[in-house]
Amino acid sequence: MNVQKRHEFDTAAAEAFAGRVADMLDAGAAAAMMSLGHRLGLFETLASLTDPAGSHEIAAAAGLSERYVREWLAVMVMAGVVDYRPETRDYRLPLEHAACLAGDAPFGNLAVYAQHVALFGKVEDRTIANFRTGGGTRYDDYPCFHQIMAEDSGQTVTAGLFDHVLPIAPELHERLTAGIDVLDAGCGRGAALLAMARRYPASRFVGYDLCADAIDFAAQRARTEELTNVRFETRDLTGYAEPGRWDLVASFDAVHDQKDPLGLVAGIHASLRPGGVYLMQDIGASADLEKNRDFPFATLLYAVSTVHCTPVSIGQGGEGLGTMWGWETAERFLRQAGFAEVERHVLPHDPMNVWFVARRGTAI
Ligand SMILES: C[S@@+](CC[C@H](N)C(=O)[O-])C[C@H]1O[C@@H](n2cnc3c(N)ncnc32)[C@H](O)[C@@H]1O
Repeated sequence: MNVQKRHEFDTAAAEAFAGRVADMLDAGAAAAMMSLGHRLGLFETLASLTDPAGSHEIAAAAGLSERYVREWLAVMVMAGVVDYRPETRDYRLPLEHAACLAGDAPFGNLAVYAQHVALFGKVEDRTIANFRTGGGTRYDDYPCFHQIMAEDSGQTVTAGLFDHVLPIAPELHERLTAGIDVLDAGCGRGAALLAMARRYPASRFVGYDLCADAIDFAAQRARTEELTNVRFETRDLTGYAEPGRWDLVASFDAVHDQKDPLGLVAGIHASLRPGGVYLMQDIGASADLEKNRDFPFATLLYAVSTVHCTPVSIGQGGEGLGTMWGWETAERFLRQAGFAEVERHVLPHDPMNVWFVARRGTAI
């Protein structure tokens, strides 16, 4: 270090930053352990106990090994998630904490998103290889991806579908009630489509997705519920077009990690009947890095992009637009695809995403 640089070195700033890094390490560890607690149902167990309880009681209620539960509880106490009384050695999840970590939490179950953090570690070696080779990944490189994604979109899409999402295109309720043809492009495990099929028996619903395991899951649910107006098909949407086939196409967070996102949006436009509607949910961040500092979960989303969305697109031979491709890019693609009308909405129940209603003109 030269003399000039040594004089410029701000020791207080370095110490403050080291403190922040230490906080990040603790927060990262807490997030990974929240994922574990979520998957093991521990937050629900804690929320179900009316009084503070010891580790043996909590472990028994959860059907888990006490030794591991006690260690996990220690993490949660250090992270300020769970309260601990040393005199009685008992634990309590405050109601206000359960409200964002347990079950159908009224503020959205944030422990669901902690699972993305845990997934980063599972694919770290693969990600390191991607950095070295420029290569990509496949969906089946990610254990439990579709399960996590279904829980994630269960909150942002399915939970608000009828009260918040469909009303942004006011004509849809009447048309769906009368009976129309609907496609969910990149439907994953299909929960949103299944919900619509239940609600609108006169309409016909189809879900396409690249991943056979997700499609099998969705199809099994449809069979179990004896829904006859919905079908699911494993299908690569690269180069997609079924001209004039649909009245409504929806895609829920399923465009940016495709091989050819613009091609898909253009194919969807071509596949709509005149007057048809494309309902598109995607990440609501900006394409400009500097505008995303205050965007909810921006750090987490760029990390998801590094580890998942970018490499799955590259793995299909795409350019890897990434999770944070930006609402500006999405809107430009919709206009380039030929949509006559494009509206952009941000819905209060889903601050992380943007919702577009794009209408195909009435003349062919
Ligand atoms: C982020 S997930 C969203 C899944 C679902 N829409 C939801 O909200 O839960 C993106 C989906 O796009 C699908 N996908 C990615 N590339 C695809 C392609 N080329 N063809 C069809 N589906 C694709 C993935 O398999 C995945 O299910």
